[in-house]
Amino acid sequence: MSGERVRPRGPTGPVRSADRFLVFGAPAIGDEEVDEVVASLRSGWLGTGPKVARFEVEFRTYKGAAHAVAVSSCTAALHLSMLALRLQPGDEVVTTPMTFAATVNAIIHAGATPVLADVDPVTMNLDPAAVAAAVTPRTRAVVPVHFAGRPCEMDDLLAVAAARGLAVIEDCAHAIETEYHGRAAGTFGDFGCFSFYVTKNVVTGEGGMVLTSSEDHAARIKVLALHGMSKDAWKRFSDEGYRHYFVTEAGYKYNMMDIQAAIGIHQLARVEAAWRRRAAIWDEYLHAFADLPLGLPAAPAPDTRHAYHLFTVLVDEERAGLSRDAFLDAMTAENIGVGVHYLSIPEHPFYSERFGWRPDDFPHAMRIGRRTVSLPLSPALSADDVADVVAAVRKVLGR
Ligand SMILES: Cc1ncc(COP(=O)(O)O)c(C=O)c1O
Repeated sequence: MSGERVRPRGPTGPVRSADRFLVFGAPAIGDEEVDEVVASLRSGWLGTGPKVARFEVEFRTYKGAAHAVAVSSCTAALHLSMLALRLQPGDEVVTTPMTFAATVNAIIHAGATPVLADVDPVTMNLDPAAVAAAVTPRTRAVVPVHFAGRPCEMDDLLAVAAARGLAVIEDCAHAIETEYHGRAAGTFGDFGCFSFYVTKNVVTGEGGMVLTSSEDHAARIKVLALHGMSKDAWKRFSDEGYRHYFVTEAGYKYNMMDIQAAIGIHQLARVEAAWRRRAAIWDEYLHAFADLPLGLPAAPAPDTRHAYHLFTVLVDEERAGLSRDAFLDAMTAENIGVGVHYLSIPEHPFYSERFGWRPDDFPHAMRIGRRTVSLPLSPALSADDVADVVAAVRKVLGR
Protein backbone atom coordinates (compact mmCIF):
# COMPACT_ATOMS: atom_id res chain seq x y z
CA MET A 1 0.00 0.00 0.00
CA SER A 2 1.11 3.56 -0.55
CA GLY A 3 1.51 4.20 3.16
CA GLU A 4 4.67 2.07 3.19
CA ARG A 5 6.25 4.53 0.78
CA VAL A 6 5.09 7.74 2.44
CA ARG A 7 8.12 9.33 4.03
CA PRO A 8 7.97 10.98 7.42
CA ARG A 9 7.66 14.74 7.28
CA GLY A 10 7.36 17.63 9.67
CA PRO A 11 3.88 18.72 10.72
CA THR A 12 3.98 21.99 8.78
CA GLY A 13 6.62 21.87 6.05
CA PRO A 14 6.03 20.85 2.46
CA VAL A 15 6.54 17.21 1.42
CA ARG A 16 9.52 18.36 -0.65
CA SER A 17 11.86 21.26 -0.12
CA ALA A 18 11.74 24.21 -2.55
CA ASP A 19 15.30 23.60 -3.73
CA ARG A 20 14.19 20.12 -4.90
CA PHE A 21 11.07 21.30 -6.79
CA LEU A 22 9.99 18.33 -8.92
CA VAL A 23 9.79 19.67 -12.46
CA PHE A 24 6.83 18.22 -14.36
CA GLY A 25 7.89 16.23 -17.41
CA ALA A 26 11.66 16.55 -16.93
CA PRO A 27 13.25 14.05 -19.34
CA ALA A 28 15.73 11.25 -18.56
CA ILE A 29 18.90 12.20 -20.45
CA GLY A 30 21.81 9.75 -20.42
CA ASP A 31 25.54 10.14 -21.06
CA GLU A 32 24.98 8.64 -24.53
CA GLU A 33 22.86 11.64 -25.56
CA VAL A 34 25.39 14.09 -24.09
CA ASP A 35 28.31 12.41 -25.88
CA GLU A 36 26.45 12.21 -29.20
CA VAL A 37 25.50 15.91 -29.07
CA VAL A 38 29.10 16.84 -28.26
CA ALA A 39 30.29 14.67 -31.18
CA SER A 40 27.84 16.50 -33.48
CA LEU A 41 29.08 19.86 -32.27
CA ARG A 42 32.71 18.86 -32.77
CA SER A 43 32.02 17.37 -36.22
CA GLY A 44 30.96 20.74 -37.58
CA TRP A 45 27.74 19.21 -38.96
CA LEU A 46 25.04 20.65 -36.71
CA GLY A 47 22.13 20.99 -39.10
CA THR A 48 20.09 18.40 -40.98
CA GLY A 49 22.43 15.58 -41.92
CA PRO A 50 23.33 11.92 -41.48
CA LYS A 51 22.06 11.64 -37.89
CA VAL A 52 18.62 12.86 -38.93
CA ALA A 53 18.64 10.27 -41.74
CA ARG A 54 19.63 7.57 -39.23
CA PHE A 55 16.94 8.65 -36.74
CA GLU A 56 14.33 8.45 -39.52
CA VAL A 57 15.36 4.89 -40.40
CA GLU A 58 15.47 3.78 -36.77
CA PHE A 59 12.12 5.36 -35.94
CA ARG A 60 10.29 3.91 -38.91
CA THR A 61 11.85 0.51 -38.18
CA TYR A 62 10.68 0.73 -34.55
CA LYS A 63 7.17 1.65 -35.69
CA GLY A 64 7.03 -0.74 -38.65
CA ALA A 65 6.24 2.10 -41.07
CA ALA A 66 7.25 2.45 -44.71
CA HIS A 67 8.40 6.09 -44.66
CA ALA A 68 9.44 8.58 -41.99
CA VAL A 69 10.29 12.25 -42.35
CA ALA A 70 11.85 14.02 -39.37
CA VAL A 71 10.71 17.60 -38.78
CA SER A 72 11.07 20.36 -36.22
CA SER A 73 7.92 19.53 -34.19
CA CYS A 74 4.69 17.58 -34.16
CA THR A 75 2.96 20.83 -35.02
CA ALA A 76 5.03 20.95 -38.22
CA ALA A 77 4.28 17.25 -38.84
CA LEU A 78 0.53 17.90 -38.56
CA HIS A 79 0.70 21.02 -40.74
CA LEU A 80 2.69 19.29 -43.49
CA SER A 81 0.39 16.24 -43.43
CA MET A 82 -2.61 18.52 -43.95
CA LEU A 83 -0.80 20.33 -46.78
CA ALA A 84 0.02 16.99 -48.39
CA LEU A 85 -3.75 16.34 -48.54
CA ARG A 86 -4.09 19.57 -50.56
CA LEU A 87 -7.00 20.76 -48.43
CA GLN A 88 -8.96 23.65 -49.92
CA PRO A 89 -10.64 26.58 -48.12
CA GLY A 90 -14.04 25.36 -46.93
CA ASP A 91 -12.81 21.81 -46.38
CA GLU A 92 -13.56 20.54 -42.89
CA VAL A 93 -11.36 18.43 -40.62
CA VAL A 94 -12.87 16.74 -37.57
CA THR A 95 -10.85 16.46 -34.37
CA THR A 96 -11.17 16.29 -30.58
CA PRO A 97 -11.69 19.15 -28.11
CA MET A 98 -9.45 17.24 -25.64
CA THR A 99 -6.15 18.15 -27.26
CA PHE A 100 -3.36 20.68 -27.39
CA ALA A 101 -3.93 23.83 -29.44
CA ALA A 102 -1.42 22.62 -32.06
CA THR A 103 -3.84 20.00 -33.41
CA VAL A 104 -6.47 22.61 -34.20
CA ASN A 105 -3.99 25.30 -35.26
CA ALA A 106 -2.49 22.96 -37.88
CA ILE A 107 -5.93 22.56 -39.48
CA ILE A 108 -6.36 26.34 -39.55
CA HIS A 109 -2.85 26.94 -40.94
CA ALA A 110 -3.56 24.45 -43.74
CA GLY A 111 -6.50 26.66 -44.75
CA ALA A 112 -9.23 24.25 -43.65
CA THR A 113 -11.97 24.58 -41.04
CA PRO A 114 -11.72 22.61 -37.80
CA VAL A 115 -14.83 20.80 -36.56
CA LEU A 116 -14.94 19.27 -33.09
CA ALA A 117 -16.53 16.00 -31.99
CA ASP A 118 -16.82 15.15 -28.29
CA VAL A 119 -14.78 12.49 -26.51
CA ASP A 120 -15.84 9.33 -24.74
CA PRO A 121 -15.99 10.24 -21.03
CA VAL A 122 -14.09 7.12 -19.93
CA THR A 123 -11.34 6.78 -22.55
CA MET A 124 -11.09 10.56 -23.13
CA ASN A 125 -10.56 9.75 -26.83
CA LEU A 126 -12.67 10.81 -29.81
CA ASP A 127 -16.06 9.09 -29.76
CA PRO A 128 -16.47 7.48 -33.22
CA ALA A 129 -20.25 8.05 -33.11
CA ALA A 130 -19.68 11.76 -32.44
CA VAL A 131 -17.25 11.87 -35.37
CA ALA A 132 -19.84 10.27 -37.66
CA ALA A 133 -22.40 12.85 -36.51
CA ALA A 134 -19.96 15.73 -37.19
CA VAL A 135 -19.22 14.70 -40.78
CA THR A 136 -20.71 16.88 -43.54
CA PRO A 137 -20.30 16.80 -47.32
CA ARG A 138 -17.34 19.18 -46.83
CA THR A 139 -15.43 16.91 -44.42
CA ARG A 140 -12.08 15.76 -45.84
CA ALA A 141 -10.21 14.31 -42.89
CA VAL A 142 -10.33 13.23 -39.25
CA VAL A 143 -7.53 13.75 -36.73
CA PRO A 144 -7.70 11.31 -33.81
CA VAL A 145 -5.42 12.07 -30.85
CA HIS A 146 -4.36 9.02 -28.85
CA PHE A 147 -4.87 10.90 -25.61
CA ALA A 148 -2.34 10.27 -22.81
CA GLY A 149 -1.03 7.32 -24.84
CA ARG A 150 -4.26 5.31 -24.91
CA PRO A 151 -5.15 4.23 -28.47
CA CYS A 152 -8.35 5.54 -30.02
CA GLU A 153 -10.98 3.02 -31.16
CA MET A 154 -9.30 2.72 -34.55
CA ASP A 155 -11.58 0.00 -35.98
CA ASP A 156 -14.62 2.24 -35.51
CA LEU A 157 -12.87 5.44 -36.59
CA LEU A 158 -11.44 3.81 -39.72
CA ALA A 159 -14.89 2.46 -40.55
CA VAL A 160 -16.36 5.99 -40.33
CA ALA A 161 -13.47 7.36 -42.42
CA ALA A 162 -13.82 4.64 -45.07
CA ALA A 163 -17.60 5.05 -45.30
CA ARG A 164 -17.26 8.82 -45.80
CA GLY A 165 -14.05 8.82 -47.85
CA LEU A 166 -12.03 10.72 -45.23
CA ALA A 167 -8.28 10.86 -44.82
CA VAL A 168 -6.95 10.01 -41.35
CA ILE A 169 -4.10 11.93 -39.70
CA GLU A 170 -3.18 10.40 -36.35
CA ASP A 171 -1.90 12.85 -33.75
CA CYS A 172 0.55 10.55 -31.96
CA ALA A 173 2.18 13.22 -29.79
CA HIS A 174 1.44 11.02 -26.74
CA ALA A 175 1.57 7.69 -28.52
CA ILE A 176 5.11 6.59 -29.39
CA GLU A 177 4.69 3.10 -27.88
CA THR A 178 0.92 2.84 -28.40
CA GLU A 179 -0.53 -0.22 -30.15
CA TYR A 180 -4.06 -1.20 -31.07
CA HIS A 181 -4.91 -4.79 -31.96
CA GLY A 182 -1.27 -5.60 -32.63
CA ARG A 183 -0.61 -2.60 -34.85
CA ALA A 184 1.43 0.49 -34.02
CA ALA A 185 -0.26 3.88 -33.60
CA GLY A 186 0.71 6.16 -36.46
CA THR A 187 0.45 3.39 -39.07
CA PHE A 188 -3.36 3.26 -39.30
CA GLY A 189 -3.97 6.56 -40.99
CA ASP A 190 -2.61 8.25 -44.08
CA PHE A 191 -0.19 10.02 -41.72
CA GLY A 192 1.06 9.51 -38.17
CA CYS A 193 2.49 12.62 -36.48
CA PHE A 194 4.85 12.35 -33.50
CA SER A 195 6.35 14.81 -31.02
CA PHE A 196 9.77 14.71 -29.41
CA TYR A 197 9.11 17.80 -27.29
CA VAL A 198 10.95 17.85 -23.98
CA THR A 199 8.13 16.24 -21.96
CA LYS A 200 7.37 13.47 -24.46
CA ASN A 201 8.21 9.76 -24.29
CA VAL A 202 11.16 10.18 -26.69
CA VAL A 203 12.81 13.58 -26.49
CA THR A 204 14.90 15.69 -28.85
CA GLY A 205 14.20 19.03 -27.12
CA GLU A 206 11.96 20.12 -29.97
CA GLY A 207 11.26 17.73 -32.81
CA GLY A 208 8.70 15.68 -34.67
CA MET A 209 8.21 12.94 -37.25
CA VAL A 210 5.68 12.07 -39.93
CA LEU A 211 5.05 8.42 -40.79
CA THR A 212 3.28 7.51 -43.98
CA SER A 213 2.87 4.48 -46.22
CA SER A 214 2.90 6.71 -49.31
CA GLU A 215 6.24 7.37 -50.99
CA ASP A 216 4.73 10.37 -52.79
CA HIS A 217 3.44 11.93 -49.59
CA ALA A 218 6.80 11.36 -47.86
CA ALA A 219 8.70 12.97 -50.75
CA ARG A 220 6.41 16.02 -50.81
CA ILE A 221 6.58 16.46 -47.04
CA LYS A 222 10.37 16.33 -47.21
CA VAL A 223 10.40 19.06 -49.85
CA LEU A 224 7.86 21.21 -47.98
CA ALA A 225 9.85 20.85 -44.73
CA LEU A 226 12.91 22.51 -46.31
CA HIS A 227 11.79 25.62 -48.18
CA GLY A 228 10.31 23.64 -51.08
CA MET A 229 13.81 22.75 -52.27
CA SER A 230 14.11 19.67 -54.47
CA LYS A 231 14.85 16.25 -52.99
CA ASP A 232 17.82 15.83 -50.64
CA ALA A 233 18.79 19.49 -50.81
CA TRP A 234 20.40 19.09 -47.38
CA LYS A 235 23.22 17.18 -49.09
CA ARG A 236 24.26 20.26 -51.07
CA PHE A 237 27.16 20.97 -48.70
CA SER A 238 28.26 17.34 -48.24
CA ASP A 239 31.42 15.63 -49.46
CA GLU A 240 29.48 14.54 -52.54
CA GLY A 241 30.20 18.03 -53.90
CA TYR A 242 27.91 20.99 -54.39
CA ARG A 243 24.72 20.23 -56.25
CA HIS A 244 22.15 22.69 -57.44
CA TYR A 245 18.73 22.44 -55.88
CA PHE A 246 15.54 23.81 -57.38
CA VAL A 247 12.64 25.34 -55.49
CA THR A 248 9.49 23.59 -56.62
CA GLU A 249 7.01 25.34 -54.28
CA ALA A 250 7.01 27.81 -51.39
CA GLY A 251 7.92 25.53 -48.51
CA TYR A 252 8.60 25.96 -44.81
CA LYS A 253 11.62 25.80 -42.48
CA TYR A 254 10.53 22.70 -40.60
CA ASN A 255 13.66 20.51 -40.79
CA MET A 256 15.17 18.66 -37.83
CA MET A 257 18.84 19.27 -36.91
CA ASP A 258 21.50 16.60 -36.37
CA ILE A 259 21.95 17.95 -32.83
CA GLN A 260 18.32 17.02 -32.15
CA ALA A 261 18.58 13.62 -33.84
CA ALA A 262 21.73 12.95 -31.77
CA ILE A 263 19.52 13.02 -28.67
CA GLY A 264 16.64 11.14 -30.31
CA ILE A 265 18.75 8.18 -31.48
CA HIS A 266 19.74 7.32 -27.90
CA GLN A 267 16.32 8.13 -26.47
CA LEU A 268 14.80 5.70 -28.97
CA ALA A 269 17.31 3.01 -27.99
CA ARG A 270 15.94 3.25 -24.42
CA VAL A 271 12.26 3.62 -25.37
CA GLU A 272 11.21 0.23 -23.97
CA ALA A 273 13.14 0.60 -20.71
CA ALA A 274 11.59 4.05 -20.21
CA TRP A 275 8.12 2.61 -20.98
CA ARG A 276 8.61 -0.12 -18.35
CA ARG A 277 9.64 2.47 -15.76
CA ARG A 278 6.57 4.63 -16.49
CA ALA A 279 4.33 1.56 -16.41
CA ALA A 280 5.67 0.73 -12.94
CA ILE A 281 5.08 4.29 -11.71
CA TRP A 282 1.57 4.17 -13.20
CA ASP A 283 0.78 0.99 -11.25
CA GLU A 284 2.22 2.47 -8.09
CA TYR A 285 0.00 5.56 -8.42
CA LEU A 286 -3.11 3.45 -9.14
CA HIS A 287 -2.44 1.39 -6.05
CA ALA A 288 -1.57 4.38 -3.85
CA PHE A 289 -4.63 6.42 -4.86
CA ALA A 290 -7.20 3.62 -4.90
CA ASP A 291 -8.83 4.80 -1.65
CA LEU A 292 -8.82 8.53 -2.51
CA PRO A 293 -11.76 10.63 -3.74
CA LEU A 294 -10.19 11.09 -7.19
CA GLY A 295 -11.06 9.90 -10.69
CA LEU A 296 -8.29 7.57 -11.89
CA PRO A 297 -7.35 6.62 -15.49
CA ALA A 298 -9.40 3.81 -17.03
CA ALA A 299 -7.72 0.42 -17.38
CA PRO A 300 -6.24 -0.10 -20.87
CA ALA A 301 -8.56 -1.95 -23.28
CA PRO A 302 -7.75 -5.59 -24.15
CA ASP A 303 -5.34 -6.18 -27.04
CA THR A 304 -3.95 -2.66 -26.83
CA ARG A 305 -0.77 -1.11 -25.54
CA HIS A 306 -0.97 2.14 -23.60
CA ALA A 307 2.05 4.45 -23.96
CA TYR A 308 1.66 5.72 -20.37
CA HIS A 309 2.45 9.27 -21.41
CA LEU A 310 0.24 11.14 -18.94
CA PHE A 311 -1.15 9.99 -15.59
CA THR A 312 -4.22 12.16 -15.13
CA VAL A 313 -6.50 12.31 -12.09
CA LEU A 314 -9.89 14.00 -12.02
CA VAL A 315 -10.51 16.33 -9.09
CA ASP A 316 -14.22 16.81 -8.61
CA GLU A 317 -14.75 19.55 -6.04
CA GLU A 318 -17.79 17.94 -4.41
CA ARG A 319 -16.06 14.62 -3.97
CA ALA A 320 -12.52 15.81 -3.25
CA GLY A 321 -13.39 18.77 -1.02
CA LEU A 322 -11.31 21.20 -3.06
CA SER A 323 -11.40 22.56 -6.59
CA ARG A 324 -9.06 21.42 -9.34
CA ASP A 325 -7.27 24.76 -9.34
CA ALA A 326 -6.88 24.65 -5.54
CA PHE A 327 -5.41 21.14 -5.96
CA LEU A 328 -2.90 22.48 -8.53
CA ASP A 329 -1.88 25.29 -6.16
CA ALA A 330 -1.59 22.94 -3.20
CA MET A 331 0.62 20.49 -5.15
CA THR A 332 2.84 23.39 -6.23
CA ALA A 333 3.09 24.48 -2.59
CA GLU A 334 4.33 20.94 -1.83
CA ASN A 335 7.00 21.57 -4.52
CA ILE A 336 5.56 19.00 -6.93
CA GLY A 337 5.15 20.20 -10.54
CA VAL A 338 1.78 19.35 -12.10
CA GLY A 339 0.13 19.95 -15.48
CA VAL A 340 -3.30 20.28 -17.09
CA HIS A 341 -3.97 18.29 -20.26
CA TYR A 342 -6.14 20.04 -21.28
CA LEU A 343 -8.72 22.73 -20.84
CA SER A 344 -11.06 21.75 -23.66
CA ILE A 345 -10.44 23.66 -26.88
CA PRO A 346 -13.63 25.80 -26.69
CA GLU A 347 -12.46 27.25 -23.34
CA HIS A 348 -9.87 29.32 -25.25
CA PRO A 349 -11.13 32.71 -26.40
CA PHE A 350 -9.65 32.53 -29.89
CA TYR A 351 -11.54 29.37 -30.84
CA SER A 352 -14.82 30.33 -29.20
CA GLU A 353 -14.74 33.75 -30.93
CA ARG A 354 -13.66 32.43 -34.32
CA PHE A 355 -15.83 29.32 -34.49
CA GLY A 356 -18.63 30.09 -32.02
CA TRP A 357 -17.89 26.97 -29.96
CA ARG A 358 -19.07 26.90 -26.36
CA PRO A 359 -17.51 24.55 -23.81
CA ASP A 360 -20.86 22.91 -23.06
CA ASP A 361 -21.30 22.02 -26.73
CA PHE A 362 -18.78 19.25 -25.91
CA PRO A 363 -19.80 18.36 -22.36
CA HIS A 364 -17.52 15.35 -21.81
CA ALA A 365 -14.39 17.26 -22.85
CA MET A 366 -15.51 20.29 -20.80
CA ARG A 367 -16.07 18.17 -17.71
CA ILE A 368 -12.68 16.45 -18.02
CA GLY A 369 -10.86 19.70 -18.84
CA ARG A 370 -12.22 21.41 -15.73
CA ARG A 371 -11.21 18.57 -13.41
CA THR A 372 -8.05 17.03 -14.82
CA VAL A 373 -4.57 17.18 -13.29
CA SER A 374 -1.46 15.46 -14.70
CA LEU A 375 0.98 14.11 -12.15
CA PRO A 376 4.72 13.62 -12.86
CA LEU A 377 5.32 10.41 -14.88
CA SER A 378 8.84 10.75 -16.22
CA PRO A 379 11.19 7.74 -16.31
CA ALA A 380 13.65 10.10 -14.61
CA LEU A 381 11.64 9.90 -11.37
CA SER A 382 13.41 8.11 -8.51
CA ALA A 383 11.55 5.94 -5.99
CA ASP A 384 11.77 8.87 -3.56
CA ASP A 385 10.30 11.26 -6.15
CA VAL A 386 7.32 8.92 -6.67
CA ALA A 387 6.89 8.58 -2.90
CA ASP A 388 6.89 12.40 -2.62
CA VAL A 389 4.18 12.70 -5.28
CA VAL A 390 2.06 10.11 -3.45
CA ALA A 391 2.62 11.81 -0.09
CA ALA A 392 1.74 15.23 -1.52
CA VAL A 393 -1.48 14.02 -3.15
CA ARG A 394 -2.58 12.33 0.07
CA LYS A 395 -1.67 15.40 2.14
CA VAL A 396 -3.48 17.79 -0.20
CA LEU A 397 -6.59 15.61 0.07
CA GLY A 398 -6.25 15.48 3.85
CA ARG A 399 -5.43 11.74 3.98
C1 LIG B 1 -1.76 16.12 -28.56
C2 LIG B 1 -0.65 17.01 -29.04
N1 LIG B 1 -0.60 17.34 -30.34
C3 LIG B 1 0.39 18.10 -30.83
C4 LIG B 1 1.38 18.60 -30.01
C5 LIG B 1 2.44 19.48 -30.60
O1 LIG B 1 3.70 18.91 -30.45
P1 LIG B 1 5.01 19.80 -30.66
O2 LIG B 1 5.26 20.54 -29.41
O3 LIG B 1 6.10 18.79 -30.95
O4 LIG B 1 4.77 20.69 -31.83
C6 LIG B 1 1.39 18.27 -28.66
C7 LIG B 1 2.46 18.80 -27.78
O5 LIG B 1 2.37 19.02 -26.64
C8 LIG B 1 0.35 17.46 -28.15
O6 LIG B 1 0.31 17.13 -26.87
